[in-house]
Amino acid sequence: MDPQIIPAVDPIPLPAPFWLFKLLLVVTFILHILVMNFMLGGGVLAAIAKFKSRKDENYRRLFEDLSKKIPSLLAATVTLGVAPLLFLQVLYGQFFYSSSVLIGWPWFLVLIFLALAYYGFYLVAFKKGAATNKVGWVFLFSMILVFVIGFLYSNNMTLLLTPEQWAAKYHADPSGWNLNWGEQTLIPRFLHFFIAALAVGGLFIATVGLFRWKQDTEYARFLIKFGSRWFMYVTMLEIVAGLWFLISLPRAKMMLFMGENLLATIALLIGVVGALAAIFLMSEALRKADPRKGFYLASGLTVGVIIFMAIMREVLRDAYLANYFNAKNFVVQTQWDVLILFLALFVGGVALWFVMIKRYFFSPKAAS
Ligand code: HEM
Repeated sequence: MDPQIIPAVDPIPLPAPFWLFKLLLVVTFILHILVMNFMLGGGVLAAIAKFKSRKDENYRRLFEDLSKKIPSLLAATVTLGVAPLLFLQVLYGQFFYSSSVLIGWPWFLVLIFLALAYYGFYLVAFKKGAATNKVGWVFLFSMILVFVIGFLYSNNMTLLLTPEQWAAKYHADPSGWNLNWGEQTLIPRFLHFFIAALAVGGLFIATVGLFRWKQDTEYARFLIKFGSRWFMYVTMLEIVAGLWFLISLPRAKMMLFMGENLLATIALLIGVVGALAAIFLMSEALRKADPRKGFYLASGLTVGVIIFMAIMREVLRDAYLANYFNAKNFVVQTQWDVLILFLALFVGGVALWFVMIKRYFFSPKAAS
């Protein structure tokens, strides 16, 4: 491969150490993925509820409740996507810009799809008495757009990792109408994200139910059952999807998770055991009159699993780019004053965001 194909590192020094940017990339990516899961997974389950709503009043209420929240969740997904986007550009800009150019047109379509999905979601949210089938179809259409956006992200994030494919891809079609179809990990990797979104979406719905327990116990019980069951069954499926993703990796990369890299191996072990334990705890909680304690434990474990999965994803990225990327090539000139101000605002911003999420989605008053 011609090494010139990878653009040179930006000569402007990094304003903070590499490890700090990397940490911020992982932390903000986890926040982005969590809210994306609430939006995409919660949205798919809301669509299912919509098509069941004729038979059962609870499903109708669930759709009405959730469809009003989706525009805000989409906004949060985008806002929390900007943060890792910036860190990604700082650390891996040479790779990310190149892969974005190669899939230029589909990548550009993300913006169009996003705008159309927003319109659709707002249309549904503002519609009074969202009982008509038309509303259901508009909602479904927006969900499909959001699903495609996620798929386009997986295309770019996998192409970024394989500069050795770039020249052939460009010469095969220099127009920018490319996707990363030849990549054998693409489908299992994206499915792994999508199925996880369904599981966490279930958790989200159940959590909304928990916060309505005192105010409206019967409806809350329905939300908890519906959401938790989805969480359990889909998490079982996720273990299969995860295995498929693992064996689709090139052998040398797969072996990282089989003992060759200690961090990756431990993270995988914790991820799998954590997911199994969360399923078990959830099924126990559902059998109890008050499921709250077991439910919180299962949710906490799931967040832990997501954190370890994000760490694994980073180890994998480093392994893919090992021949092309060396963090030591960065010149670092830490700007302490700006850095301290940034970190203080960042921590304050995230705390404020948690307060807003809690008030907006989970307080009993958020019911209508
Ligand atoms: C609205 C629908 C969206 C969905 C469903 C979605 C979903 C995803 C998924 C599945 C990934 C992981 C891809 C992979 O590694 O294979 C991802 C990564 C990412 N997303 Fe989103 N995303 C959405 C919107 C956005 C937007 C609008 C932004 C930016 C403003 C954004 C920023 C990012 C970044 C920067 C990453 C990669 C971070 C990294 O590699 O560390 N996302 N997204």
